[in-house]
Amino acid sequence: MSTANTRTLERRPFGRTGLEVTPVCMGCAPLGDMEGTFAYKVPEDRALETVRMFFRGPINFIDTAAAYGDGESERRIGAVLRELGGLPEGYVLATKADRDPATGDFSGEQMKRSVERSLRLLGLDSFQVVYLHDPEHTTWEDINSRGGALETLLSYREQGVIQHLGIAGGPIDLLIRYIELDVFEAVITHNRYTLLNRIASPLLDLASMKGLAVVNAAPYGSGILAKGPDAYPRYAYQQAPEDVLEAARRADEICSRHGVPLAAAALQFSVRDPRITSTIVGMTRPERIAQTVELATYPIPEEVWPELDGVAVQRTDPEANRW
Ligand SMILES: NC(=O)c1ccc[n+]([C@@H]2O[C@H](COP(=O)([O-])OP(=O)(O)OC[C@H]3O[C@@H](n4cnc5c(N)ncnc54)[C@H](OP(=O)(O)O)[C@@H]3O)[C@@H](O)[C@H]2O)c1
Repeated sequence: MSTANTRTLERRPFGRTGLEVTPVCMGCAPLGDMEGTFAYKVPEDRALETVRMFFRGPINFIDTAAAYGDGESERRIGAVLRELGGLPEGYVLATKADRDPATGDFSGEQMKRSVERSLRLLGLDSFQVVYLHDPEHTTWEDINSRGGALETLLSYREQGVIQHLGIAGGPIDLLIRYIELDVFEAVITHNRYTLLNRIASPLLDLASMKGLAVVNAAPYGSGILAKGPDAYPRYAYQQAPEDVLEAARRADEICSRHGVPLAAAALQFSVRDPRITSTIVGMTRPERIAQTVELATYPIPEEVWPELDGVAVQRTDPEANRW
C-alpha cells in the first residue's frame, strides 16, 4: 500500500474549541465533481483514492459542504469513512450547512434538511465543526429571523449535534458583521487572502484578535497559483481578468528566479501568517497529499516575500460579479 508523505505536521489549536488541526486542510469542493465551478470533471474512483490517501497521510483536517456537488463531495467522503469504520481518532471533519440549490431557500427548516442529509451521507451522528455557508446568498434579516438559519444551527449546537459552529463566506464586510455577533467559533474566508488578492486582511485581524479559529481557503485562487496562469487561467471560479493573469505571471517569474515553485509561495503566504490557523487546499488526486506537504515545507528565501508583496494588484472583491 502506498503512503502519503509521512513527514509530520504540527498541530495548532482550532481557536478555543479544544480541537487541534494541521496548518493545512484538505478541501473537498472539487471532489464533488463541480464542472461548472472548476471547469473539469472528477471521476468517482479518483475521488475515493484521494480521500483514502488523505487518511494515510499527515494532514488531519478535512473540509466539505452540503453544497459541493449537491451532496456528492460528502457522499464520496462518507463512502471512505464507511470503509474505515467511521472518522478515525485524531481527525477533524468540517462541513457546511447550505441553502437549497434549486430555490435558494435559506430558512431554519432548510438548515435542518441540510444538516440531517450531511449526517446521513457522511455516516456520522454528530459534527465537530459546521459552518453557516455563504450567507451572502440571502439577507441578514432572513438568516437572523426567529426560527431562521442561525437560530436553528445554534440549537443544533445546544443539542450537541454540532459541537462547534463557524461562519464561511465571501464578502469581507459581511463576515465581519457576522463574527461581531460573537456566536461563531471559526471563520472561513476564501480567494481573498492570496498572493494576488489580500482584501481579507481586516477580517483576519479581527477574527484572530477575538480568538476564533481562522481558516483561509483557496490559497491558489481556485487553481491558477498551483497550475500556473497559462495552464489554468481562472481565479475564484471564473475566467481571470487580465490584471490578475498579469499579476500571476509576475509572481511566477519572481518565484522561478528564486528557484521556488509558485504553488509553494502561494501556500506558504497563507500558512506562515500568524493570524491563520489552517489553510484549505482543494485537491482531487491522491498524489496531492504528499505534494501539498512538500509545498507547505519547501524552503523559501526571506527576500522572496517583499518582492511578492508588490504583485498583489487586485484590490476589488474577486467574486463581485458572481452574486
Ligand atoms: N465559502 C467557503 O466556505 C469556501 C469557499 C471556497 C473554498 N472553500 C474550501 O476551501 C477549499 C480550497 O478552495 P478551492 O478548492 O476552491 O481552491 P484552491 O485550493 O485555491 O485550488 C484548488 C485547485 O488547485 C489544484 N491543486 C491543488 N494542489 C495542487 C498541486 N500540488 N499541483 C497542481 N494543482 C494543484 C487542484 O487541482 P486538482 O483537482 O487537480 O487536485 C484544484 O483545482 C475548497 O475545496 C473548499 O473545501 C470554502
